[in-house]
Amino acid sequence: MQLRHEFPLLSQNASLIYLDSAATSQKPKKVIDRMTYFLQKEYGTVHRAVYALAATATAHYDDIRMQIRAFLGVGEDGEVIFTRGTTEGINLVASSFGKAFLQEGDEILICETEHHSNIVPWQMICQEKKAQLKIIPVDDRGEICLDVYRKMLSSKTKLVAVAHIANATGVVHPIHEIIELAHQFGAKVLVDAAQSVPHKKISVRDLDVDFLVFSAHKVYGPTGVGVLYGKKVWLDQMPPYQGGGDMVEQVTFEKTTYQPLPLKFEAGTPSIVEVMGLGSALEFLQEIGLDQIEAWEKSLTEYALMQMESVEGLSLLCHPKHRSSIVTFHAKGCHSLDVGTLLDMRGIAVRTGHFCAQPTLRRFGVRSAVRMSLGVYNTKEDIDRFVEALREVLHILRK
Ligand SMILES: Cc1ncc(COP(=O)(O)O)c(C=O)c1O
Repeated sequence: MQLRHEFPLLSQNASLIYLDSAATSQKPKKVIDRMTYFLQKEYGTVHRAVYALAATATAHYDDIRMQIRAFLGVGEDGEVIFTRGTTEGINLVASSFGKAFLQEGDEILICETEHHSNIVPWQMICQEKKAQLKIIPVDDRGEICLDVYRKMLSSKTKLVAVAHIANATGVVHPIHEIIELAHQFGAKVLVDAAQSVPHKKISVRDLDVDFLVFSAHKVYGPTGVGVLYGKKVWLDQMPPYQGGGDMVEQVTFEKTTYQPLPLKFEAGTPSIVEVMGLGSALEFLQEIGLDQIEAWEKSLTEYALMQMESVEGLSLLCHPKHRSSIVTFHAKGCHSLDVGTLLDMRGIAVRTGHFCAQPTLRRFGVRSAVRMSLGVYNTKEDIDRFVEALREVLHILRK
């Protein structure tokens, strides 16, 4: 695939090799143009006013909810909720599901390799409700220990929250099996799909998942918007997360009644411009085809792993059987921050540090590492330049 020319930032910086798409992706012209057009020609508020501008903006906004419904295979409009991103989606479910369904002694299960966003909100609600947060271990390949998971499930388990793809290891978890097992015990499942929606086709109907979250900025859309999918049967029983405009039906000083789904969970003026950008970003993905994206990124990752094998003293964080387009490594005798800085001086942008997943790095006995992650714009030439630069940088650092 040759898509670099569709990304203004990349096509204007010929020497930049961007390998940090797991943190955030670059934006195609289509997304930038749509947001600019909307701001210049169509901008208005949504769900609040009768004038034409507001009516058009509302129609576009509601259309994008339908588009996401089709994109994720969602059954009902009310099951798609706009959030500020994955983090807000998880906080919403932790807080609201926790209030509705969690009691003292109940258990929430998360995996050992979660992003901080899928750890801290559960710690907070468990503390509040005197529930227990239990950690499903991973093996040395970074893969979830399914036997241990099976034994951890019980009638006390109220919810299992796991990443589809772990952001620090790149491991693709067997999400179908994880969901099926949880359901056998009556537990609900939240899938953090922040790292999978940009790279593979997802159907919430096929997964039969209870909640699924992702961020627009990792799927070639803007920051400030994300999506929470939730089954209506649970969302209807959960209290609103925040109070404010748009989520109410009737307000008096004595009592407030709430809108039905999805507005019950969308308090305040939403990120209207960003929702327009998200709509275009999903169109962009679909025009290329998620199956093509997955195949392309798989072949590039295999190529990268092969090339990296020949770099002396390089250790991968783990060697999973099922890996996405994320490769995390450390180099003997070199601090990851130095590696990242020297790579940057050669025009290569990689992530260094703990990737908001400190427990993951602790699991693998390191405090900091280097992560390269791919997007649709990357090519074999990018990998060649990266590996060549890496060799040079390590040589300098080891002198
Ligand atoms: C697996 C995973 N979960 C959650 C997040 C948090 O996403 P955001 O910062 O967009 O809310 C990230 C971001 O890196 C992630 O990779």
